[in-house]
Amino acid sequence: MPAVSYLLDPVGRRTVTAAAEPIDAIAIRELGVEPVRVPLRARALRDAWTSATDVPLGAAWVRRDEKGEVHALSSVCPHLGCAVAFSKPSGDFRCPCHDSSFAVTGDYRHGPAERGLDPLPLEVKDGRVFITWVRYRVGGSSREPA
Ligand code: FES
Repeated sequence: MPAVSYLLDPVGRRTVTAAAEPIDAIAIRELGVEPVRVPLRARALRDAWTSATDVPLGAAWVRRDEKGEVHALSSVCPHLGCAVAFSKPSGDFRCPCHDSSFAVTGDYRHGPAERGLDPLPLEVKDGRVFITWVRYRVGGSSREPA
């Protein structure tokens, strides 16, 4: 039995695959009503077999609304996972892959995506915005972490 345990180690151990802690993303003074794209990188990631530092996780579109409230949206299109971009002329998000579009709030507007852009948890502390990266399942109308 100890030999089997040895061979299977570290199967069954808690595996960390994403940044568990909020990431220091941007200073709040850098934000306006127009969203800015903020890359999110984990300082350190570790799974059962490897560890790495400064790992790119994804990106968030971050903005302050007219009331000063901060919002962060995943840049991953909820249709099939392409990266959405903000269009200044139209004031909305567009996906280049299959032409879905989303309001600046992330609400669904048009195209094959079945839900709006996915919000990311955030907190504001000492003038900085800390965002927790969540990779949501793509496809479908329900919002679930992958
Ligand atoms: S991946 Fe965005 S519309 Fe298909």
